[in-house]
This record gives sequence, C-alpha cells and structure tokens, in this order.
Amino acid sequence: MTGSIAILDFGSQYSQIIARRVREVRVYCELFPWDAPAEKVQAIEPVGYILSGGPNSVYDDGAPFLPAYVLDSGKPVLGICYGMQALTHALGGRVAPANQREYGFASIEATRNNPLISSGTQDVWMSHGDRIESPPPGFETLASSANSPVAAIGDLAHRRYGVQFHPEVQHTPGGKEMLRRFVLDICGCTPDWTPESIITQSIERIQAQVGGQRVLSAVSGGVDSSVATALVQRAVGSQLATVFVDTGMLRQGERAQVEAAFAALPGAQLVVVDAVDTFLNALHNVEEPEQKRKIIGETFIRIFEQQARSLGEPKYLVQGTIYPDVIESAAPERGKAQRIKTHHNVGGLPQDLSFELVEPLRYLFKDEVRAVGEALGLPSEMVWRQPFPGPGLAVRCLGAITRERLERLRAADAIFTGELTAAGLLGRSTLDKPDGISQAFAVLLPVRSVGVMGDQRTYQEAVALRAVTTQDFMTAAWAPLPHDLLARVAGRIVNEVAGVNRVVYDITSKPPATIEWE
Ligand code: XMP
Repeated sequence: MTGSIAILDFGSQYSQIIARRVREVRVYCELFPWDAPAEKVQAIEPVGYILSGGPNSVYDDGAPFLPAYVLDSGKPVLGICYGMQALTHALGGRVAPANQREYGFASIEATRNNPLISSGTQDVWMSHGDRIESPPPGFETLASSANSPVAAIGDLAHRRYGVQFHPEVQHTPGGKEMLRRFVLDICGCTPDWTPESIITQSIERIQAQVGGQRVLSAVSGGVDSSVATALVQRAVGSQLATVFVDTGMLRQGERAQVEAAFAALPGAQLVVVDAVDTFLNALHNVEEPEQKRKIIGETFIRIFEQQARSLGEPKYLVQGTIYPDVIESAAPERGKAQRIKTHHNVGGLPQDLSFELVEPLRYLFKDEVRAVGEALGLPSEMVWRQPFPGPGLAVRCLGAITRERLERLRAADAIFTGELTAAGLLGRSTLDKPDGISQAFAVLLPVRSVGVMGDQRTYQEAVALRAVTTQDFMTAAWAPLPHDLLARVAGRIVNEVAGVNRVVYDITSKPPATIEWE
C-alpha cells in the first residue's frame, strides 16, 4: 500500500462519507477523533490529512482545534468547512463570526489555477455559519461564490488547502474529483487499495494473529459473517471450523445456499447443525416480540457452546464487525437511547465464552466487504444479499411461530423478493444506490379475514409486504413500488400460498414505524 490518509473528525455528520469517498479512489484512510493521540494517528503513516467539518465556531469555549502535529508533519492538508476554519485560525488568518448561516447550493468560480479545483464555475453544497475573512499568510483565494468571497483557499507551496463547502456530499457533483485530486495528485497516493490487495494484507494479518491455533466461526448466510469466514478460511485453511445453525427461521433456500457456498471453498470444514426442533420447542406459544428475541439469542448461544466444546474449544472466534460499527462505537455517547428492540447478534459473540476475536473486516466499508466477497468467489446472491435480522423470520411471523406458518411466510417472501429481483428493483444494481430498495420482505399477520375463492368462502391469514429505502437503517422511507408489480405479487401469493387470502402493502416510514414489524 502506498500512502494512506488520516481524516480528523471535528464532529461533522458527513465525516464517514469523506472516508468512503477516499476509499472509492482506492486509497486507504482512517477516521480519527480530532483529539486522538498523535501516535495513534501517525501509526497509519498518513501522507496527507483531511480535516472534517463540525458544528462549532473556532471562537467557542473549548472549540476543537487543529493539533500541532498535523502542521509539524509538513504533509498536505485539506480542511473542509470547520476544518478550513480551524486551519485558518491555527495559521493566523481571520475567521469571521457568521451574521447568518449559508445553507444549500452555491455556485463557485475558480479564481486562480490550482491543483484542487478545476477552472470555471461549478455547483457546491454549503452548510456553514462562520466564514473566512482573510486567509492566513501564504494562502490565496482559489474560488469564490456570491455569498462566500473566500470559498476555497490554498498555500500551494506548502500543499495546504481549505474549502468552505462540502466536496464529500452528493450535492457537490465535482466533489469526488476534488478529493481525488487532493489524494492522488497533491498527496501522491497510489490507488492500490483494491479487493486483491485487501485480501493479501488481511491474510497476512490473520496468519500473524492466529499462528497455528484453531479458529471457530459462525455463519448466518449474511454478507459480513460469510466474507469474514471466507477470508479466514483462505488464510488458515483447515485450522478453521465453521458452524452454521439452521434455526428454522431462515429464508427459502438459505441453508442449501450456505452449504453450497462453503463446500465450494477449498478445504472448508462446515458443520451444519439442524436445530429447527430445538428453536420451535423453545418458541412454543411465545408471541411477545422481545421474548422471542431473548429466547432465540439464548438458544443460539447454548447450541454454539456445545459446538465449540465438541470442536476442541478453539482459541479464536471470527467476527464480521465492519468499519461503520467500529466508528459508531467509538463515537461519543449521544445520550442514552431508549431500547426499542433487543438486537441480538445471532451468529455473534457469546459474551461469556473466552475467545480472542479475529475481525478481518474491521476496517472495511460495506461496499468493500462485498467486493472482497466477490473476489473470494462467494456466490453473488450471497454477496449482494439484503440485510436480515439475527432472529430471522421469527420477527416477521407475528403471533405464534409454527412450522406451517413459517413455511407460509417463506413462500410469500420468496415470491415478493423474487419478483422485485426480476424487475431489477432489488439486488446488486439497487442495494448501494441512495434511492434503491435497501430491504424488502413479507410479514405474516396473525389476523384472518374473509375472502372468496372459486365460489368458496375462505377465512385465512393476511400477508403484509414491506419495502424501504434507507441510507443508515435509522430512518427509512417506504418504497413507492409500481402498482402492476404489487398486483402481480399479491395475485401470486394468494394463488400459490395456501392459507393466505389477502395481501396488504405497508406505507409507513420509520419513524414512526420501524422497518421490521417486531
Ligand atoms: P428496525 O426494525 O429496528 O430495523 O427498524 C433496523 C434494521 O436492523 C435489522 N434488525 C436486526 N439486525 N439483529 C440484527 O442483526 C436483530 O435482532 C435485528 N432486528 C432488526 C432490520 O432488519 C433492519 O435492517
């Protein structure tokens, strides 16, 4: 890897997007809190720094400031919004307190030839209060807008730049190009952060960590656990035992798919545990959502413990933790949120077992995880699968969970997702698009209604269809699906799935609803 970028986070809501944009240029970067210890930041040997935006004014009491080691390093710096103001303040320029905020589109015009911003005018996204009144000594104004005479500054000799707008967001169409220029042309990074190089480095790291010891992994069929396991498999071969628990709460064809995918990996040792009866017994007569989740989590851990014992109690456990989880958990507490649902990571870590963790995806974004999965030869349906909750169909089978009702739900779900995929509305081409469907599934409702089928009265259950678009799963909008597709799905479900005579479409967003029904 030639060159990495350190991004210092001053509290902007867009910081993670900056990191994604740099990775898209195929350059490794990491996000650090602005006041992270210098040694920690310098451990990645950055060849350049990006300073994020943030909510403060440099004149606030206790406002975040630019740490001295950044300038001392002599490496290129790009300050974005607050990052630009912190840079200006540190170098003796003047930041003017805002009379009013500037928020929204602005048109900037390059006022000087420079390596960051191409000549001419372009639209950018502004979201700032304070602005630069006079750049620090050695800096020139590189671009101006009607409201921000100093929209971009640069000290070309020292390779230090600042922009008042946000190049990282989609609303700045030329922003990707600016970041590319900063990272490749100004910092001199080589775009070599590719799936192949990620795999090579991960393998070295995994081998160094586990040596000749045995490793255990649990796969759920989900993207992250599958890719993490396939990487560890590639690194340590037969030292890895992979456990797949069939809980009975899986989607149609999921068990066969996992078996086939892992059987195809060279030297794979997949232990499939058929625990359907155990789970169904444990869930017998349980209808309360939180109780379902608790029982499933506990049952899973018990089965997993048994397997660990019979596999010689390996010292290491594979976890599919990805970079956004790491960033999220490192973020300062944003007030104690109320518990809406217990999110058991089924297939995850049994708290009281003393494993050392192997987390090969710890520094990867989701799109990188998918690219690595494809490069490792995992099937594309698995790599491009939509998220699936740990408790599986249990939280979509409202009311009592029985084998028969689960079959009904599986069949309806397969029709719905199959039709969406066939219409090009779900899967590889849409999962990563901002307006594409992020999650779509069927829910079986414990209500019966009257229908008529072939002159016969029916009194059967209803299926609700749910399809949402979302960026982060914290909020979500219901997807406006084409009516002819909804009609086709409803027709097929009522005709093909025994015991269902009515289909409804869920048009609630989150909030106030949640994505899953339980
Ligand atoms: P909600 O229903 O809270 O779901 O809007 C947000 C996202 O989280 C998924 N989800 C889970 N994921 N374990 C998980 O790993 C769980 O217990 C769980 N419950 C919900 C849900 O599918 C959606 O993507």
